[in-house]
Amino acid sequence: MKPVQIKPDIFWVGAVDWAARDFHGYVIPNGTTYNNYLVRDEHPTLVDTVKSEFADEALEGLRGLIDPALIRNVIVNHIENDHLGALDRVMALCPEAAVYTTERGKKGMARFFDISRWDVRTVKSGDEIATGRYTLRFVETPMLHWPDSMVTWVKEAGLLISQDAFGQHYASAARFDDEFVRANGLVALEDAVIDYYANILMPFGNLIRTTLGQLEKLGIAPDMIAPDHGVIWRGDPGRVLKLYRNLVDGKADRRVTVVYDTMWKGTEMMTRAIAQGIMDEGVDCVVLKMRATPMSVAVKEIAKSRGMLLGSPTLNNDIFPSMAGFAAYLRGLRPRDRVAGAYGCYGWGGGAVKRLTEELKGMKLEVVEPGIEVHYRPSAEDRERCYAFGRQFAARVKEYHRKYE
Ligand code: FEO
Repeated sequence: MKPVQIKPDIFWVGAVDWAARDFHGYVIPNGTTYNNYLVRDEHPTLVDTVKSEFADEALEGLRGLIDPALIRNVIVNHIENDHLGALDRVMALCPEAAVYTTERGKKGMARFFDISRWDVRTVKSGDEIATGRYTLRFVETPMLHWPDSMVTWVKEAGLLISQDAFGQHYASAARFDDEFVRANGLVALEDAVIDYYANILMPFGNLIRTTLGQLEKLGIAPDMIAPDHGVIWRGDPGRVLKLYRNLVDGKADRRVTVVYDTMWKGTEMMTRAIAQGIMDEGVDCVVLKMRATPMSVAVKEIAKSRGMLLGSPTLNNDIFPSMAGFAAYLRGLRPRDRVAGAYGCYGWGGGAVKRLTEELKGMKLEVVEPGIEVHYRPSAEDRERCYAFGRQFAARVKEYHRKYE
């Protein structure tokens, strides 16, 4: 991809990964981008690199702007492989450049590369370097989302290079939010932000709230936010800040996401009756069959919904494997501020509903008990019970949702 100027003498020099569908096990239906940025100043500075297999493409773009041997500073905001991966290729071209990262970044970097011949300098929040017309200020953001993480504030440009924060996994021709919205609509962009947040950043909601406050206290009011994935926010950077505040504050739609799997259609029949009950109570409902849905998509829908129901048949006295895997994935992401419940069919003996309910209680969600179980296959009477359960669950969602309105 050709570089794109984003501010005077500051360029996007990344790569678009149109083909990616799997990001370390997390399904990304729309691909992604690896963004890095060149500050072509008196002391040329590269902020972040790209995933190693995209090094040639990114370096070709870089060479169109500058001889890489002239680069004096390389900033490493985050040492995950998708941003650090091409660092050795960059350093081979400018071995005298100083590398700036956090203390933890340096320790981690040494696990990936032989850094003994590089001039690696550690920085703390508030440290600055001058590149000429620009000043780069670093703010540590530990656990957002790795211990080493930091962001780079380019004061004179009003530009926050935010690393993974505010990013989206979406490959598109658009480099900026306004271009993306024109081509794909605002809903698609917000959906991509929520997907990214839900699957990567959700466990760190409280830390994100603190960091947003910290940035404000430091007087960082960006007119452009440039993340390391997806589009750069120039049209309305306040939009993504507001969206993040809503997410960390537990905002969601008055809606129920039902995620289920089924062996011989019994749990599926229950699902249909429960969903009808939810809808008849006046609450929106999304139904996803686990075996036909990537976990990341189900998590995104849960992040958008005030209520979640998990349906699973019992297999060998336990949760059906696809749903057990989903529960484990969900547990790690630590959803909050949600009403939850479980249901399912069993043959010889129950187990799945009890185990799923324990999982949901372990996540400290507002659990509606008891869950509903059906022996073998729902009769007409069972389907009535399921319908009533759906209505009862939706009523709890409506009541719980009021405190967020
Ligand atoms: Fe995009 Fe945490 O790496």
